[in-house]
Amino acid sequence: MKLTADQLREKYLNFFASKGHAVISGASLIPENDPTVLFTTAGMHPLVPYLLGEPHPAGQRLTNVQKCVRTGDIDAVGDTCHLTFFEMLGNWSLGEYFKKEAITWSFEFLTQELGFAVEQLHVTVFEGEGAIPRDTESIEVWKSLGIPAERIYALPKEDNWWGPAGTTGPCGPDTEMFIDTGLQSCAPECRPGCHCGKYIEIWNDVFMQYNKTAAGTYEPLPQSNVDTGMGVERTICMMNGHSNVYETELFAPLMAQIRELTTLQPDNEEQRVRAERIIADHMRTAVFILGDPKGGVKPGNLGANYVLRRLIRRSVRYAKILGIETGYTATLAALVIDNYKHVYPELEQNRDTIISELTGEEARFEKTLISGQREFDKVADALVDHRQTTLSGRTAFKLYDTYGFPLEFTEELAIERGLTVDRAGYDKAFKKHQELSKQSGGTFNGGLADNSKATTRLHTATHLLQRALQVVLGEHALQKGSNITPARLRFDFSHPNKMTSEEKQQVEDLVNQQIQRNLPITVETMTIEEAKERGAIALFAAKYGEQVKVYSAGDFSMEVCGGPHAETTGELGGFKIQKEESSSAGVRRIKAVITNLN
Ligand code: SER
Repeated sequence: MKLTADQLREKYLNFFASKGHAVISGASLIPENDPTVLFTTAGMHPLVPYLLGEPHPAGQRLTNVQKCVRTGDIDAVGDTCHLTFFEMLGNWSLGEYFKKEAITWSFEFLTQELGFAVEQLHVTVFEGEGAIPRDTESIEVWKSLGIPAERIYALPKEDNWWGPAGTTGPCGPDTEMFIDTGLQSCAPECRPGCHCGKYIEIWNDVFMQYNKTAAGTYEPLPQSNVDTGMGVERTICMMNGHSNVYETELFAPLMAQIRELTTLQPDNEEQRVRAERIIADHMRTAVFILGDPKGGVKPGNLGANYVLRRLIRRSVRYAKILGIETGYTATLAALVIDNYKHVYPELEQNRDTIISELTGEEARFEKTLISGQREFDKVADALVDHRQTTLSGRTAFKLYDTYGFPLEFTEELAIERGLTVDRAGYDKAFKKHQELSKQSGGTFNGGLADNSKATTRLHTATHLLQRALQVVLGEHALQKGSNITPARLRFDFSHPNKMTSEEKQQVEDLVNQQIQRNLPITVETMTIEEAKERGAIALFAAKYGEQVKVYSAGDFSMEVCGGPHAETTGELGGFKIQKEESSSAGVRRIKAVITNLN
């Protein structure tokens, strides 16, 4: 059966609506109040509170289409089916139906609605590990539907366990559905899960029964949930008999344009195809990030901003390999917007921002790409001549600092020359640079009693506390005063009510999670307007155009501040709230300490 993406989305939502599911909207690509991930990576992600037990206003059976960004597979982009942006069709049971219904409906949709032959279907299930048993129930359901035992594969946790989306949260065993493309097996042991392209995974039913805690343990959830995700691009690719997702109507105009703009043919055909696909994939993802209704992500050096920068710069580099001229990002972005605006009107609304940000970043990178590449080649040639295999951290840092090469990007160039980058050396150079800029930042005059390690760490703790209070209580919870001694911090903030013990616990846990993530603390200088535009908390008035220092703790907190700070959140060891009391009308006061200092 031939089907367009528009028809597939509609068919899916109608099918699950007919099974009693409420159709809900997809969420923003930029997660709300979830510091554990940079982007929405799955349809379940915005539903985490409901998977943990909170009642959802639309009921216990939900379905939708969710835009997702995943960069974990970025190195696989260029093959037939891995993408950094994709649309996920999902259906959920929040503590209601479970394995039997979920699998039966998946099977019914695939075979009856989409017309896949039962013989094309291969499925995988969880084989069991430790205290969590083999998923025999799913095996039995698949058998009862007519999938023979030899097409049901029991695989370990690395294949058939899903989640959590970030570091903590709901997760569980899954059963994945693959379509056999009919290609030759790459080896006798080739089976679903193999990346040769014979088997393409199009759908995953996850049975979310566990919650992974910050301590790394799995606790049973109060309810057993179902979370499924079907990939739009892959499914229409398989239905329309295409050999890769770039042939579908979601990419075809982009691929045609890239070919038209190409002026250089790499010697190797495989290299050409890979470059074309990387350019198309990264441009589409960048357009969706820049066009997101929540907004606020711009090419930059931290967190989500860095991911966006890396995608754009990587695309520019591959465009150079194909001899594509400067300005191509605007041409390709316009095609993506036109192709998707009827489904995602925000792209049309944000057309100007999308195009100007892309062309701006393209131009910034163009300026340094050639000289950076020359610098890289010089060092790489010398290393190869001397039979050395490691590119120093100092060189990688120089390429980053002077030429704007993201570290991962230098690593890719290095691999092409048979070299590896000394990551530890890079981190060291990075830290040293931070240290120097801290010292040249002048005297520090915040509310600290001294500049000891203890007060510095407590100061970093106030940034984490400030952001955690906003996440738990709301954006209104802003600092009204702060006082730090080597023994404790005192933090006053606006909030109308006494905090409940649950809220206090949540805030404490959230701060401790950031400590465990060992986030780097980085500093940048920018104008106060830019700081605010980038979402930094700015507690103190600054004059228009004033340059300020902005401290970030990974992707979790960003605040205008004079410093000094710890180098990583891990240095804090642990965080404990000792007291929460009234300070004055509408202002609360927290006293807290750092525990388990290492
Ligand atoms: N969360 C699961 C996945 O991403 C199913 O939606 O595959």
